[in-house]
Amino acid sequence: MTELALTILPEAPADADAIERLYERTFGPGRYARTAFRIREGAGHLVELSFTARIGTLLVGSVRLTPIRIGEIPALLLGPLTVEPPFRRRGIGLALMKRALAEAKRKGHRLVVLVGDEPYYARAGFRGIPKGQARMPGPVDPDRLLVAELAEGAFAGVSGPIRAEWKAG
Ligand SMILES: CC(C)(COP(=O)(O)OP(=O)(O)OC[C@H]1O[C@@H](n2cnc3c(N)ncnc32)[C@H](O)[C@@H]1OP(=O)(O)O)[C@@H](O)C(=O)NCCC(=O)NCCS
Repeated sequence: MTELALTILPEAPADADAIERLYERTFGPGRYARTAFRIREGAGHLVELSFTARIGTLLVGSVRLTPIRIGEIPALLLGPLTVEPPFRRRGIGLALMKRALAEAKRKGHRLVVLVGDEPYYARAGFRGIPKGQARMPGPVDPDRLLVAELAEGAFAGVSGPIRAEWKAG
């Protein structure tokens, strides 16, 4: 049997419903209460830095990046990163993340933060934020607050509260 190829594509407006259903299956209704979801609601994700994974035409995964600030410094919040359960453990999550980070770097972004498990996200260059250096605007396990530098040394000297970068207008 031939396997259909995986493609990583920029998110399109028509993907929104399928991505929302993927979140519903993955995170359930409790997702709206999560601190990271609330930040994303405030800012809205950047479609040009959000990607879908497809096998054939089927959408099997999604990653989004949202503009934030840490103190006064601009950064991005990564997530949700989600892969349909039957398609997990094939490298799709990592491929989505690497594509989003590469595109963000290419566009001149320097810092990406997320809330997640360090053993997984370390594969894409994330490490724990020293306690107190940056704070989410709601309850988050400090061990799960991670950062990746897209430019060497970009996180040095950066500190403060994390908040959504509100859209202009
Ligand atoms: C996390 C997630 C996106 C990974 O997608 P994926 O396509 O399976 O990821 P990959 O194939 O790139 O990597 C899979 C590997 O990561 C490991 N892994 C997955 N989640 C992990 C976690 N939370 N902690 C440590 N390791 C983890 C798997 O065990 C697997 O290990 P292996 O390579 O030794 O087999 C997917 O499991 C998912 O959608 N989970 C639910 C949503 C979620 O928790 N998202 C993150 C928070 S927003």
